[in-house]
Amino acid sequence: MVYGHFDDGAREYVITRPDTPWPWINYLGTEDFFSLVSNAGGGYSFYKDARLRRLTRYRYNDVPMDSNGRLFYIRDGETVWNPGWRPARTDLESYECRHGMGYTRIRSLRDGVSADLLLFVPQGADCEVQRLVLSNASRGRKTLDLFAVTEFCLWNAMDDMTNFQRNLSTGEVEVEEGVVYHRTEYRERRNHFAFYSVNAPVAGFETDREQFTGRYGGFEKPEAVSCRRLPGTLASGWSPIAAFHLKISLEPGESRSLVFLLGYVENPDAEKWSAPGVINKTRAAALRARFDSDSKVEAAFRELSASWCALLSGFSVSSGDERLDRMVNVWNQYQCMTTYNMARSASYFESGIGRGIGFRDTSQDLLGCVHQIPLRARQRLLDVASTQFADGGAYHQYQPLTRQGNRDVGGDFNDDPLWLILGVAGYIKETGDWAILEEPVPFDAEPVPATMFEHLLRSFNHVVRNLGPHRLPLIGHADWNDCLNLNCFSTDPNESFQTAVSRDGRTAESMMIAGMFVLIGEDFTQICRRTGRKEMADEAQARVNEMRSAILAHGWDGGWFLRAYDSFGNKVGSRENTDGQIYVEANAWCAMARVGTEHGYPLKALDAVRDRLATRYGIVILDPPYREYHVELGEVSSYPPGYKENAGVFCHNNPWVMIAECVAGRAGQAFDYYKRICPSYLEGVQELHRTEPYVYSQMVAGKAAPRHGEAKNSWLTGTAAWNFVAVSQWILGVRPEFDGLRIDPSLPPELRNVELTRKFRGCRYSIRIRNSGRTPRERTITVNGKRVGSDVVPPGKEGAEIRVEVEM
Ligand code: BGC
Ligand code: NOJ
Repeated sequence: MVYGHFDDGAREYVITRPDTPWPWINYLGTEDFFSLVSNAGGGYSFYKDARLRRLTRYRYNDVPMDSNGRLFYIRDGETVWNPGWRPARTDLESYECRHGMGYTRIRSLRDGVSADLLLFVPQGADCEVQRLVLSNASRGRKTLDLFAVTEFCLWNAMDDMTNFQRNLSTGEVEVEEGVVYHRTEYRERRNHFAFYSVNAPVAGFETDREQFTGRYGGFEKPEAVSCRRLPGTLASGWSPIAAFHLKISLEPGESRSLVFLLGYVENPDAEKWSAPGVINKTRAAALRARFDSDSKVEAAFRELSASWCALLSGFSVSSGDERLDRMVNVWNQYQCMTTYNMARSASYFESGIGRGIGFRDTSQDLLGCVHQIPLRARQRLLDVASTQFADGGAYHQYQPLTRQGNRDVGGDFNDDPLWLILGVAGYIKETGDWAILEEPVPFDAEPVPATMFEHLLRSFNHVVRNLGPHRLPLIGHADWNDCLNLNCFSTDPNESFQTAVSRDGRTAESMMIAGMFVLIGEDFTQICRRTGRKEMADEAQARVNEMRSAILAHGWDGGWFLRAYDSFGNKVGSRENTDGQIYVEANAWCAMARVGTEHGYPLKALDAVRDRLATRYGIVILDPPYREYHVELGEVSSYPPGYKENAGVFCHNNPWVMIAECVAGRAGQAFDYYKRICPSYLEGVQELHRTEPYVYSQMVAGKAAPRHGEAKNSWLTGTAAWNFVAVSQWILGVRPEFDGLRIDPSLPPELRNVELTRKFRGCRYSIRIRNSGRTPRERTITVNGKRVGSDVVPPGKEGAEIRVEVEM
């Protein structure tokens, strides 16, 4: 079954059936106000923080699933239908959902009435616009009852779904001039409220959920819609909602446009009230006035489209392969921005309450969008670094609202510090902004700030000071693979693998951190050298060289790189093991870092990855899967074989292999891997794949799972950024470096003529590549018509146009 297709001209994905294998969602908002919206209109909104400022309620893992969100019921005679099909699930005569850049549009038709629902969060406004146009395409007059409903969340999403003894008594609303204001806890410690409004007179309203659904009723068939009447109750406790009833009469051919607004307002403490007990609504009125007509909504929508056009204009390709072009030009970059905005907090798999911003996650996510939003990336790096500990370790996560490290999870993930170096190096390579290194940034719990450079130095030294018996890096709680918990030894089902610790951690070593240290250490050495810190650079280089030697001495297993030594000093990821003989991570990182090239190790390791881990749907993280629980390995062995870190296709690490293949000169293999997990190449298997065909998912079930190829955890994954790095910097080969843009494509034979544009440090590069299979030595590069000897093309003056031609 096919559920949709791309519309490249409009930069939209068009969903043509509402019963997709899983809700296919989009994200609205890029600044402070965010919404998730499914192809049925399901989802929820929040302000800045999905846990602490949740505006509307969503019941995860509910049945029927995805029945909450923006609810519009059209009652036409005895028929009740929703534009997005759910929750009433009345058959529609036509249905189409278009997810575009920061907006979603659902159009449907039933019995001659068409609905056209446009949802977006305007630039610079804390609200979601919901514009609904109803049209009468029939030959007779239509008299319709329209009901619009939104269910409020009592702000703290965690408390909202757990603490009923309190929160079933706290709900409060105000209704004034047909607008519903949600003001729970506004009287005491909050200075914010939400509102729901429509730019037309209403025939009735309701604010108490039970009055709307009826006792024991649900949103599929609410009692108030059946009776065509909203009682107009003011909610007191229980579950506050905002529901409107509008009576609409349409002559044949006539349309009616309505603008609904879900808004969020903060009032300064001194201006909270307009009269005792009455919210000051001045700011809400101003917000409503900005979007109270069709023309204002159209103007805001155009502004949003223009901003996305600008964001996507920094990198574009025309390769002759439309599946490649649409991912690179639109969807991969779009997902990178979303992942950057959301971190790992709110998706249809992440509840928005569990995780703040991950130290390693955000440092990697940044690589996918630093060319689009360099200033925001800079600020994020400063925020992240300020949650670092004075010893160079780091809080694993922090909350975006408070910018404080998350104490429940703590630190001790020994890969974390290195990602900061990678992120800062990536930022400097893109922008040339060396001044970031001198920015004052505090360490956690240290009042006197150090410089950003000092943070990088302590990051580097954190690894140097934490080496194990083989002079390889101690793993700490885990490295990038959160489930490789070599010091955890958990036998208690009531504790989390992510926090439990029982060993002192002075033995178990990570070969992935070793590979990272070599590769990222080279960046650090460069940073030292280029900022005049020669001695530090020499010292750092010496440490990197020692790490290479340690890997060669203790990290090679004969056919591939080991993954780790456990806390007994036993090998992990070795042919000596029964299960988990080979893992992808250390092989990819050591190959990217060219460790052991003199012995042919990178190619051997990559061959082993190809032969033992690569499948039709991507490269599995390890093989064979663990069939039993290994207390000395932790969570990795807790998943059923083929899922997640236990031999799933963990898409995040596939691009590392692609990059390593490019480094090794095997362009065809890199592109082949790219296509195996890239969503636009998987359109033919939508039913099996299940998740959205326009974005990457974190995991695809591996070859050991019953439904190999089935994806989960779409949207918020480091996969987005790393695939963008792999395809843009390595396969297409346009790579920011400290001195300029390196043009070093690794194109497969099938991509013969490729044209690219890239904005870089104020200049615009137009790059043409002719690929006729020359050897690397026969390649030529011309810049503005002149043959050059180096493939690093430095930027010119601000605004310069640079033409690059590559014959390869
Ligand atoms: C998952 C990991 C995730 C970790 C932290 C584990 O259960 O398998 O992928 O990184 O939780 O949330
Ligand atoms: C998802 C987490 O967000 C990421 O930080 C981690 O590296 C991977 N899972 C692998 O465990």
